[in-house]
Amino acid sequence: MEGLAPVVQAPMAGGVATPELVAAVCRAGGTGFLAGGYLTADALAGRIAAVRQRVDSPFGVNLFVPGERAGDEAVGAYRAALAPEAARFGVTLRTDDLYERDDWEAKLRLLVAAPVPIVSFTFGLPAAEDLASLREAGSTLVATVTSVPEAVAAAEAGVDLLCVQGPEAGGHRATFRVADTPGEAPLAELLPAVVRAVRKPVVAAGGLRDGRDVAAVLRAGAVAGQLGTAFLLTDEAGTSATHRAALTAERFGETVVTRAFSGRPARGLRNAFTDAHGAAAPSAYPQVHHLTAPLRAAAARAGEPEAVSLWAGTGYRSARPGPAEAVTRALLGESGASGG
Ligand SMILES: Cc1cc2nc3c(=O)[nH]c(=O)nc-3n(C[C@H](O)[C@H](O)[C@H](O)COP(=O)(O)O)c2cc1C
Repeated sequence: MEGLAPVVQAPMAGGVATPELVAAVCRAGGTGFLAGGYLTADALAGRIAAVRQRVDSPFGVNLFVPGERAGDEAVGAYRAALAPEAARFGVTLRTDDLYERDDWEAKLRLLVAAPVPIVSFTFGLPAAEDLASLREAGSTLVATVTSVPEAVAAAEAGVDLLCVQGPEAGGHRATFRVADTPGEAPLAELLPAVVRAVRKPVVAAGGLRDGRDVAAVLRAGAVAGQLGTAFLLTDEAGTSATHRAALTAERFGETVVTRAFSGRPARGLRNAFTDAHGAAAPSAYPQVHHLTAPLRAAAARAGEPEAVSLWAGTGYRSARPGPAEAVTRALLGESGASGG
Protein backbone atom coordinates (compact mmCIF):
# COMPACT_ATOMS: atom_id res chain seq x y z
CA MET A 1 0.00 0.00 0.00
CA GLU A 2 1.31 3.42 -0.97
CA GLY A 3 1.71 5.69 2.04
CA LEU A 4 0.87 9.37 2.11
CA ALA A 5 3.28 12.13 3.07
CA PRO A 6 2.29 14.18 6.15
CA VAL A 7 1.36 17.07 3.87
CA VAL A 8 -1.18 16.29 1.16
CA GLN A 9 -2.20 18.80 -1.51
CA ALA A 10 -5.95 18.46 -1.91
CA PRO A 11 -7.41 17.57 -5.28
CA MET A 12 -9.08 20.71 -6.61
CA ALA A 13 -11.39 20.32 -9.60
CA GLY A 14 -12.13 23.08 -12.07
CA GLY A 15 -8.54 23.32 -13.27
CA VAL A 16 -6.93 24.34 -9.96
CA ALA A 17 -4.89 21.18 -9.25
CA THR A 18 -2.74 21.29 -12.39
CA PRO A 19 -0.13 18.58 -13.16
CA GLU A 20 2.50 21.26 -12.48
CA LEU A 21 1.09 21.81 -8.97
CA VAL A 22 0.93 18.09 -8.23
CA ALA A 23 4.49 17.58 -9.46
CA ALA A 24 5.85 20.52 -7.46
CA VAL A 25 4.23 19.26 -4.25
CA CYS A 26 5.60 15.75 -4.85
CA ARG A 27 9.08 17.11 -5.58
CA ALA A 28 9.05 18.88 -2.22
CA GLY A 29 8.17 15.67 -0.37
CA GLY A 30 4.41 16.13 -0.12
CA THR A 31 1.69 14.05 -1.79
CA GLY A 32 -0.03 15.80 -4.68
CA PHE A 33 -3.52 14.96 -5.96
CA LEU A 34 -4.98 15.47 -9.41
CA ALA A 35 -8.70 16.21 -9.50
CA GLY A 36 -10.61 13.93 -11.84
CA GLY A 37 -13.97 15.62 -11.22
CA TYR A 38 -15.63 17.38 -14.20
CA LEU A 39 -13.03 15.86 -16.58
CA THR A 40 -13.57 13.28 -19.29
CA ALA A 41 -11.54 10.10 -18.88
CA ASP A 42 -9.38 11.20 -21.84
CA ALA A 43 -8.62 14.57 -20.27
CA LEU A 44 -7.76 12.86 -16.99
CA ALA A 45 -5.42 10.47 -18.81
CA GLY A 46 -3.63 13.48 -20.29
CA ARG A 47 -3.13 15.04 -16.86
CA ILE A 48 -1.87 11.78 -15.38
CA ALA A 49 0.66 11.53 -18.21
CA ALA A 50 1.71 15.13 -17.56
CA VAL A 51 2.41 14.37 -13.88
CA ARG A 52 4.36 11.22 -14.84
CA GLN A 53 6.49 13.25 -17.26
CA ARG A 54 7.53 15.47 -14.37
CA VAL A 55 7.97 13.19 -11.34
CA ASP A 56 8.32 9.54 -10.36
CA SER A 57 6.90 10.02 -6.86
CA PRO A 58 3.57 8.62 -5.71
CA PHE A 59 0.60 10.90 -6.39
CA GLY A 60 -3.15 10.59 -6.21
CA VAL A 61 -6.18 10.96 -8.45
CA ASN A 62 -9.54 12.01 -6.99
CA LEU A 63 -12.87 10.99 -8.47
CA PHE A 64 -16.38 12.29 -7.82
CA VAL A 65 -18.67 9.32 -7.16
CA PRO A 66 -21.93 9.87 -9.07
CA GLY A 67 -24.99 10.08 -6.85
CA GLU A 68 -28.60 9.10 -7.26
CA ARG A 69 -30.56 11.39 -9.50
CA ALA A 70 -32.48 13.86 -7.30
CA GLY A 71 -33.93 17.33 -7.24
CA ASP A 72 -34.90 17.64 -10.93
CA GLU A 73 -38.33 19.03 -10.04
CA ALA A 74 -36.74 22.08 -8.37
CA VAL A 75 -34.33 22.99 -11.16
CA GLY A 76 -36.89 24.85 -13.29
CA ALA A 77 -37.78 27.28 -10.51
CA TYR A 78 -34.09 27.93 -9.85
CA ARG A 79 -33.55 28.56 -13.58
CA ALA A 80 -36.31 31.17 -13.43
CA ALA A 81 -34.71 32.78 -10.36
CA LEU A 82 -31.41 33.06 -12.24
CA ALA A 83 -32.97 34.61 -15.37
CA PRO A 84 -32.07 38.21 -14.45
CA GLU A 85 -28.42 37.22 -13.90
CA ALA A 86 -28.40 35.36 -17.20
CA ALA A 87 -29.76 38.42 -18.99
CA ARG A 88 -27.17 40.64 -17.32
CA PHE A 89 -24.34 38.45 -18.62
CA GLY A 90 -26.01 37.74 -21.98
CA VAL A 91 -26.04 33.97 -21.53
CA THR A 92 -28.73 31.36 -22.13
CA LEU A 93 -29.41 28.87 -19.34
CA ARG A 94 -29.80 25.26 -20.45
CA THR A 95 -33.23 23.66 -20.43
CA ASP A 96 -32.13 20.12 -21.40
CA ASP A 97 -31.47 17.23 -19.02
CA LEU A 98 -28.56 18.28 -16.79
CA TYR A 99 -28.01 15.06 -14.83
CA GLU A 100 -24.95 13.01 -15.76
CA ARG A 101 -22.39 10.70 -14.11
CA ASP A 102 -19.12 12.58 -14.70
CA ASP A 103 -17.78 9.90 -17.10
CA TRP A 104 -17.43 7.66 -14.02
CA GLU A 105 -17.37 4.29 -15.79
CA ALA A 106 -14.72 5.41 -18.30
CA LYS A 107 -12.55 6.89 -15.55
CA LEU A 108 -12.75 3.63 -13.61
CA ARG A 109 -11.74 1.68 -16.72
CA LEU A 110 -8.83 4.07 -17.20
CA LEU A 111 -7.57 3.69 -13.62
CA VAL A 112 -7.93 -0.09 -13.68
CA ALA A 113 -6.08 -0.37 -17.00
CA ALA A 114 -3.39 2.20 -16.13
CA PRO A 115 -3.28 2.34 -12.32
CA VAL A 116 -2.04 5.31 -10.31
CA PRO A 117 -0.53 4.97 -6.83
CA ILE A 118 -3.47 6.49 -4.89
CA VAL A 119 -7.16 6.93 -5.77
CA SER A 120 -9.51 8.95 -3.57
CA PHE A 121 -13.29 9.25 -3.73
CA THR A 122 -15.56 12.16 -2.97
CA PHE A 123 -19.39 12.29 -2.64
CA GLY A 124 -19.85 8.68 -1.61
CA LEU A 125 -18.49 5.16 -1.92
CA PRO A 126 -18.06 3.24 -5.15
CA ALA A 127 -19.73 -0.16 -5.55
CA ALA A 128 -17.84 -3.06 -3.93
CA GLU A 129 -16.82 -4.50 -7.30
CA ASP A 130 -15.37 -1.18 -8.44
CA LEU A 131 -13.36 -0.88 -5.21
CA ALA A 132 -12.16 -4.45 -5.72
CA SER A 133 -11.00 -3.75 -9.29
CA LEU A 134 -9.02 -0.69 -8.23
CA ARG A 135 -7.52 -2.57 -5.29
CA GLU A 136 -6.49 -5.45 -7.55
CA ALA A 137 -4.90 -2.91 -9.87
CA GLY A 138 -2.67 -1.97 -6.93
CA SER A 139 -3.93 1.48 -5.96
CA THR A 140 -4.18 2.68 -2.37
CA LEU A 141 -7.82 3.68 -1.85
CA VAL A 142 -8.99 6.72 0.14
CA ALA A 143 -12.62 7.63 0.94
CA THR A 144 -13.51 11.20 1.86
CA VAL A 145 -15.97 11.38 4.79
CA THR A 146 -17.68 14.20 6.69
CA SER A 147 -19.19 12.33 9.67
CA VAL A 148 -18.69 9.32 11.92
CA PRO A 149 -21.41 7.23 10.18
CA GLU A 150 -19.79 7.92 6.79
CA ALA A 151 -16.40 6.96 8.26
CA VAL A 152 -17.78 3.67 9.59
CA ALA A 153 -19.38 2.88 6.21
CA ALA A 154 -16.12 3.65 4.40
CA ALA A 155 -14.10 1.49 6.77
CA GLU A 156 -16.57 -1.38 6.30
CA ALA A 157 -16.26 -1.00 2.53
CA GLY A 158 -12.58 -1.79 2.94
CA VAL A 159 -10.78 1.35 1.77
CA ASP A 160 -7.19 1.78 2.99
CA LEU A 161 -7.47 5.31 4.39
CA LEU A 162 -10.11 7.88 5.24
CA CYS A 163 -9.89 11.58 4.48
CA VAL A 164 -11.94 13.32 7.16
CA GLN A 165 -13.21 16.65 5.89
CA GLY A 166 -14.23 19.19 8.51
CA PRO A 167 -16.71 22.04 7.93
CA GLU A 168 -13.90 24.59 7.59
CA ALA A 169 -12.90 23.08 4.23
CA GLY A 170 -12.95 25.07 1.03
CA GLY A 171 -14.87 23.73 -1.94
CA HIS A 172 -17.53 21.04 -1.82
CA ARG A 173 -18.45 19.19 1.32
CA ALA A 174 -18.02 15.53 0.52
CA THR A 175 -21.32 14.32 2.06
CA PHE A 176 -22.39 10.94 0.66
CA ARG A 177 -25.89 12.12 -0.33
CA VAL A 178 -26.74 15.32 -2.22
CA ALA A 179 -29.58 16.32 0.10
CA ASP A 180 -27.59 15.74 3.32
CA THR A 181 -26.98 18.79 5.46
CA PRO A 182 -23.29 18.59 6.32
CA GLY A 183 -22.33 18.54 10.00
CA GLU A 184 -20.92 21.60 11.69
CA ALA A 185 -18.75 20.04 14.39
CA PRO A 186 -15.30 21.51 13.78
CA LEU A 187 -12.45 19.34 12.50
CA ALA A 188 -10.93 19.48 15.99
CA GLU A 189 -13.98 17.49 17.24
CA LEU A 190 -14.74 15.41 14.15
CA LEU A 191 -11.18 14.09 13.73
CA PRO A 192 -10.83 12.49 17.20
CA ALA A 193 -14.38 11.12 16.93
CA VAL A 194 -13.49 9.38 13.64
CA VAL A 195 -10.11 8.19 14.95
CA ARG A 196 -11.97 6.58 17.89
CA ALA A 197 -14.66 5.05 15.68
CA VAL A 198 -12.56 3.34 12.99
CA ARG A 199 -9.28 1.43 12.78
CA LYS A 200 -7.99 3.03 9.62
CA PRO A 201 -5.32 5.64 9.01
CA VAL A 202 -6.97 9.04 8.75
CA VAL A 203 -6.03 12.14 6.74
CA ALA A 204 -7.46 15.38 8.15
CA ALA A 205 -8.73 18.24 5.95
CA GLY A 206 -10.44 21.56 6.48
CA GLY A 207 -9.14 24.96 7.47
CA LEU A 208 -5.49 23.93 7.96
CA ARG A 209 -3.60 27.20 7.50
CA ASP A 210 0.02 26.26 8.07
CA GLY A 211 2.38 23.57 9.30
CA ARG A 212 1.42 24.18 12.91
CA ASP A 213 -2.16 23.25 12.05
CA VAL A 214 -0.81 20.12 10.33
CA ALA A 215 1.18 19.29 13.47
CA ALA A 216 -2.02 19.62 15.53
CA VAL A 217 -3.92 17.08 13.40
CA LEU A 218 -0.94 14.70 13.51
CA ARG A 219 -1.00 14.95 17.31
CA ALA A 220 -4.74 14.22 17.24
CA GLY A 221 -4.09 10.93 15.47
CA ALA A 222 -4.08 11.79 11.76
CA VAL A 223 -1.35 10.43 9.48
CA ALA A 224 -1.46 13.57 7.31
CA GLY A 225 -3.08 16.95 6.83
CA GLN A 226 -4.72 17.67 3.47
CA LEU A 227 -4.72 21.32 2.39
CA GLY A 228 -6.46 22.96 -0.53
CA THR A 229 -6.86 26.64 0.17
CA ALA A 230 -3.22 26.91 1.29
CA PHE A 231 -2.20 26.16 -2.33
CA LEU A 232 -4.69 28.41 -4.16
CA LEU A 233 -2.24 31.30 -4.58
CA THR A 234 0.80 29.22 -5.55
CA ASP A 235 2.37 29.86 -8.94
CA GLU A 236 1.49 26.41 -10.31
CA ALA A 237 -2.17 26.38 -9.18
CA GLY A 238 -4.71 26.89 -11.97
CA THR A 239 -6.69 29.34 -9.79
CA SER A 240 -8.23 31.98 -12.12
CA ALA A 241 -7.09 35.59 -11.96
CA THR A 242 -10.54 36.60 -10.67
CA HIS A 243 -10.38 34.00 -7.90
CA ARG A 244 -6.80 34.95 -6.94
CA ALA A 245 -7.67 38.63 -6.73
CA ALA A 246 -10.77 37.94 -4.61
CA LEU A 247 -8.79 35.86 -2.09
CA THR A 248 -6.74 38.89 -1.11
CA ALA A 249 -9.35 41.64 -1.65
CA GLU A 250 -10.71 43.64 1.29
CA ARG A 251 -14.19 43.30 -0.24
CA PHE A 252 -14.41 39.57 0.56
CA GLY A 253 -14.35 39.26 4.30
CA GLU A 254 -15.89 35.86 4.99
CA THR A 255 -16.73 32.44 3.60
CA VAL A 256 -20.13 30.74 3.47
CA VAL A 257 -21.39 27.25 2.69
CA THR A 258 -23.79 27.46 -0.24
CA ARG A 259 -25.62 25.30 -2.77
CA ALA A 260 -26.07 28.33 -5.05
CA PHE A 261 -23.47 27.36 -7.67
CA SER A 262 -23.68 23.57 -7.89
CA GLY A 263 -26.65 22.24 -5.90
CA ARG A 264 -24.27 20.69 -3.33
CA PRO A 265 -23.02 22.48 -0.21
CA ALA A 266 -19.62 24.08 -0.85
CA ARG A 267 -17.60 26.70 1.00
CA GLY A 268 -16.45 29.82 -0.79
CA LEU A 269 -16.11 33.56 -0.38
CA ARG A 270 -19.46 35.21 0.31
CA ASN A 271 -20.42 37.35 -2.69
CA ALA A 272 -23.52 38.87 -4.30
CA PHE A 273 -24.45 35.54 -5.91
CA THR A 274 -24.31 33.54 -2.66
CA ASP A 275 -26.34 36.26 -0.92
CA ALA A 276 -28.98 36.42 -3.66
CA HIS A 277 -29.37 32.72 -4.46
CA GLY A 278 -28.07 30.65 -1.55
CA ALA A 279 -31.48 30.34 0.09
CA ALA A 280 -33.35 29.32 -3.08
CA ALA A 281 -30.79 26.89 -4.51
CA PRO A 282 -32.11 23.31 -4.64
CA SER A 283 -30.33 20.11 -3.65
CA ALA A 284 -29.73 19.00 -7.21
CA TYR A 285 -26.21 18.02 -8.20
CA PRO A 286 -24.78 18.11 -10.82
CA GLN A 287 -27.80 19.76 -12.45
CA VAL A 288 -27.28 23.13 -10.74
CA HIS A 289 -23.54 22.96 -11.50
CA HIS A 290 -24.36 22.72 -15.22
CA LEU A 291 -27.17 25.28 -14.98
CA THR A 292 -24.88 27.96 -13.56
CA ALA A 293 -21.80 27.03 -15.66
CA PRO A 294 -22.33 29.59 -18.46
CA LEU A 295 -23.10 32.30 -15.92
CA ARG A 296 -19.95 31.60 -13.92
CA ALA A 297 -17.87 31.47 -17.09
CA ALA A 298 -19.25 34.76 -18.39
CA ALA A 299 -18.70 36.45 -15.04
CA ALA A 300 -15.11 35.14 -14.88
CA ARG A 301 -14.45 36.39 -18.43
CA ALA A 302 -15.77 39.79 -17.40
CA GLY A 303 -13.54 39.78 -14.31
CA GLU A 304 -16.71 40.05 -12.18
CA PRO A 305 -16.14 38.15 -8.92
CA GLU A 306 -19.69 38.69 -7.62
CA ALA A 307 -21.13 35.88 -9.77
CA VAL A 308 -18.21 33.43 -9.70
CA SER A 309 -17.77 30.51 -7.29
CA LEU A 310 -14.78 31.63 -5.23
CA TRP A 311 -14.08 28.39 -3.35
CA ALA A 312 -12.08 28.96 -0.18
CA GLY A 313 -11.74 27.47 3.27
CA THR A 314 -11.98 29.46 6.45
CA GLY A 315 -8.18 29.90 6.52
CA TYR A 316 -7.99 31.73 3.17
CA ARG A 317 -6.30 34.79 4.64
CA SER A 318 -3.25 32.63 5.32
CA ALA A 319 -2.86 31.31 1.75
CA ARG A 320 0.73 31.91 0.62
CA PRO A 321 1.81 32.99 -2.85
CA GLY A 322 4.97 31.67 -4.50
CA PRO A 323 6.29 28.37 -5.83
CA ALA A 324 4.34 25.35 -4.57
CA GLU A 325 7.61 23.58 -3.82
CA ALA A 326 8.54 26.29 -1.30
CA VAL A 327 5.03 26.33 0.21
CA THR A 328 5.11 22.53 0.62
CA ARG A 329 8.59 22.56 2.18
CA ALA A 330 7.48 25.28 4.61
CA LEU A 331 4.37 23.28 5.57
CA LEU A 332 6.45 20.14 6.12
CA GLY A 333 9.07 22.02 8.10
CA GLU A 334 6.56 23.82 10.33
CA SER A 335 4.67 20.57 10.92
CA GLY A 336 7.75 18.96 12.40
CA ALA A 337 7.29 16.02 9.98
CA SER A 338 10.26 15.14 7.83
CA GLY A 339 8.35 14.51 4.60
CA GLY A 340 8.51 11.65 2.14
C1 LIG B 1 -10.90 25.22 -5.14
C2 LIG B 1 -11.16 23.92 -4.45
C3 LIG B 1 -11.54 22.81 -5.19
C4 LIG B 1 -11.75 21.58 -4.56
N1 LIG B 1 -12.04 20.49 -5.34
C5 LIG B 1 -12.08 19.26 -4.75
C6 LIG B 1 -12.17 18.08 -5.54
O1 LIG B 1 -12.18 18.12 -6.75
N2 LIG B 1 -12.23 16.89 -4.89
C7 LIG B 1 -12.16 16.80 -3.52
O2 LIG B 1 -12.18 15.69 -2.98
N3 LIG B 1 -12.08 17.89 -2.76
C8 LIG B 1 -12.01 19.12 -3.34
N4 LIG B 1 -11.85 20.22 -2.55
C9 LIG B 1 -11.83 20.05 -1.08
C10 LIG B 1 -10.46 19.58 -0.62
O3 LIG B 1 -10.26 18.23 -0.91
C11 LIG B 1 -10.25 19.73 0.89
O4 LIG B 1 -11.25 19.06 1.60
C12 LIG B 1 -10.24 21.19 1.33
O5 LIG B 1 -9.50 21.97 0.45
C13 LIG B 1 -9.62 21.27 2.73
O6 LIG B 1 -9.89 22.51 3.31
P1 LIG B 1 -9.00 23.81 3.06
O7 LIG B 1 -9.38 24.30 1.70
O8 LIG B 1 -9.41 24.71 4.14
O9 LIG B 1 -7.55 23.39 3.11
C14 LIG B 1 -11.63 21.47 -3.16
C15 LIG B 1 -11.27 22.60 -2.41
C16 LIG B 1 -11.02 23.80 -3.03
C17 LIG B 1 -10.57 24.98 -2.20
